[in-house]
Amino acid sequence: MNHVARAKPRANAVLNSVLVTPTDLPPEATRDISGAMNAILADTFALYLKTKNFHWHLSGPHFRDYHLLLDEQADQIFATTDPIAERVRKVGGGTLRSIGHIARLQRITDNDAEYVEPSDMLAELREDNKTLAGRLREAHGVCEQYGDVGSASLIELWIDETERRTWFLYEASRRADSGGR
Ligand SMILES: [Fe+2]
Repeated sequence: MNHVARAKPRANAVLNSVLVTPTDLPPEATRDISGAMNAILADTFALYLKTKNFHWHLSGPHFRDYHLLLDEQADQIFATTDPIAERVRKVGGGTLRSIGHIARLQRITDNDAEYVEPSDMLAELREDNKTLAGRLREAHGVCEQYGDVGSASLIELWIDETERRTWFLYEASRRADSGGR
């Protein structure tokens, strides 16, 4: 009997034994970290698409500035999706498989409105990024609990990027004078 055939499936309802990556983490760590990271991943995809949605449907005198800002932010958000998913695989879990899977897990809400004022776009994205930072902090806590420093150290970078996006969205939405009036 070879090593693979002898390997016992982990306590993870998502995967069969063929897809369970070897890890020194206990099964409950795989379960909890995967759960937290997959929820973050769904939120990240939802925020990516909303940022692109607003990038595509912007209108008004600040078009060029906001259009480019949102494109830059969307690129940054999208760049985190693969590392999040691959952390889940590295700790032995299964990750997202479809748009439907994202829809079942996402906590950041969609905005399908036909028209959104540019100031409302920036305000909504600012709040969504702020929310995402909080969720990243929660996921960081789960990873720390099991000593998963690989995931935790990446999450720290994503928190910083998320806070930077929040900051830019906040400043871009202020009015012209220094007092924001
Ligand atoms: Fe574009």
